[in-house]
Amino acid sequence: MTQVSPRQGQRSAWIIGASQGMGHALAGLLAQRGWRLWLSARRAQPLQELAQSTGGAAIAVDATDPAALHAAAERVFAGEPPELVLMNVGDYRPMPLQEFDIGLFEQLNRSNYLASVYLLDAVVPRMRPHGGQILLNVSAAAYRGLPMGAPYSAPKAATLHMAEALRPELMREGISLRVINPGFVRSRLTDRNAFSMPFRMEPEQAAQRIADGIDRRGFEITFPRRLTWMLKLLRCLPYPLFFASVNRWILRT
Ligand SMILES: NC(=O)c1ccc[n+]([C@@H]2O[C@H](COP(=O)([O-])OP(=O)(O)OC[C@H]3O[C@@H](n4cnc5c(N)ncnc54)[C@H](OP(=O)(O)O)[C@@H]3O)[C@@H](O)[C@H]2O)c1
Repeated sequence: MTQVSPRQGQRSAWIIGASQGMGHALAGLLAQRGWRLWLSARRAQPLQELAQSTGGAAIAVDATDPAALHAAAERVFAGEPPELVLMNVGDYRPMPLQEFDIGLFEQLNRSNYLASVYLLDAVVPRMRPHGGQILLNVSAAAYRGLPMGAPYSAPKAATLHMAEALRPELMREGISLRVINPGFVRSRLTDRNAFSMPFRMEPEQAAQRIADGIDRRGFEITFPRRLTWMLKLLRCLPYPLFFASVNRWILRT
């Protein structure tokens, strides 16, 4: 692992899920803004390349392995601790009812929910002395269950509820637990969708929104608002109207 020495007053972050997509774009942007970075994902090669281009440190880890995540946290927090920890790991496959697959539920539960639980277990005790921010990249798909997405939106909803439940107590300890709820952002995950994705953004645009949201107050960073606020509205509908909308607008084809 390359060591990164802090400069006076330099901001710092640990991004887990940095080897591609939104996490990769965010790492590039934060490095441009002068941040010191620890970069994690499973594949070492793209991490090493990113570490070289950003001056960061690469720590390959599988976030669905709690012991490995603890070991990685120990390395990250060995020196000056990062002020921001971002859990950006996630996985997605569409699953129509005809392809119901418990293996997929288990797999996506590990990467979309349990990885965040393991991260909190690894970093909260280490962040207590200094405080800081923990960001979980959840999804606007967590707002409500939608067709074809049960194995994805269920663990994302669990992550969102967990964050809502833990935030008040963590705030008292000086740790701000927050969520990112994006709409569609082009990546290998959205490349698996055959349907049209309204207001889909590029990862660089998403990274910009996340970077700008880091210093804002509040629990949620969400974008693009014209989509995510429509989904929030769907969340407020009573069940008969909600299911009528799903049948009318989503299952109509
Ligand atoms: N794209 C969207 O439209 C969208 C919308 C809402 C929310 N999100 C959420 O945003 C996050 C990033 O999504 P993305 O679209 O940028 O996905 P992506 O391009 O697939 O990137 C995911 C990153 O996580 C890493 N990763 C995956 N599983 C891992 C594991 N078990 N341990 C460690 N690292 C792991 C991947 O690298 P390795 O493969 O090398 O491990 C990669 O760096 C995810 O949580 C996703 O659910 C995405």
